[in-house]
Amino acid sequence: MRVTKAVIPAAGFGTRFLPVTKATPKEMLPVVDKPSIQYVVEEAVGAGLADVVVITGRSKRPLEDHFDRNVELEAALEAKGDVDRLDLIMASNDLAKMHYIRQGDALGLGHAVLTAQHHVGNEPFAVLLGDDLIDPRDPVLARMISVREQHGGSVLCLMEVPRDQISLYGCAATVPTDAPDVVSVTDLVEKPDAQDAPSSLAVIGRYVLDPAVFAVLSRTPPGSGGEIQLTDALRELARMTASEGGGVRGVLFDGRRYDTGDRLSYLQANILMALERDDLGPALRAWLPTVLDPEGG
Ligand code: UTP
Repeated sequence: MRVTKAVIPAAGFGTRFLPVTKATPKEMLPVVDKPSIQYVVEEAVGAGLADVVVITGRSKRPLEDHFDRNVELEAALEAKGDVDRLDLIMASNDLAKMHYIRQGDALGLGHAVLTAQHHVGNEPFAVLLGDDLIDPRDPVLARMISVREQHGGSVLCLMEVPRDQISLYGCAATVPTDAPDVVSVTDLVEKPDAQDAPSSLAVIGRYVLDPAVFAVLSRTPPGSGGEIQLTDALRELARMTASEGGGVRGVLFDGRRYDTGDRLSYLQANILMALERDDLGPALRAWLPTVLDPEGG
């Protein structure tokens, strides 16, 4: 069965970014000049997933408004003949077929995914987290979907990280498969201490999930941090047989990824992505050395 739907959980508290996330979803924070969720929706659409459901909580208005028309602003830009900016604001209107589901209580990422069950139905689907921005030149989601279509089961995106950073991520124990970029996942641990981690392979925020995950999530108790963890459900799926919808593979990703999950990496992502841009990169590149080493020039 083909993968056609994307789920984007955006109902977390975003505590690492307070106070800005007090009334604004973390996914609306700009990376250069677009909210991070727009990059993620563009990525989903680029992978052929035009049906997008966003799991929201408090302050969902800005998210919905961003993917809808702003008729007054359109009229104002049209009156000024500002075609370029008009194109910019229109770009997010018809990007995808957008749906919104309220999570209610933010009981964890696993619980957020479970709230999409009715919309997704009995089909495999993708989950994309706004904390990880993947460069469109390295389209890993399309590869993950092809692995799902070939083998069934669920597929994770795994990235080698320095050992001392593995405690920030879900971590996978794996064995190789015949394909050099695909591994079979035998176990998963959420945010392990470096010395207990089964590998340096971190789970990045892209998933292609078998619908069997819903039944597993509905019986998954709160885990790490008192939250219903997607990692715990994936660990159970890894132990289940293919006929039960189990089996978890990982696609090894070494492409360009920008982490926007905490304040420092968010600032770094903004700088890295602005440096890549034709309109901002040259001026930023010339300016950075003057602040880093004012005496240098
Ligand atoms: P995080 O663990 O990054 O949590 O969630 P958070 O609340 O957004 O951020 P911090 O850690 O408090 O700073 C990973 C993703 O899962 C979503 C978040 O919106 C984020 O995209 N999420 C998390 C939900 O949708 N619901 C939840 O109950 C928890």
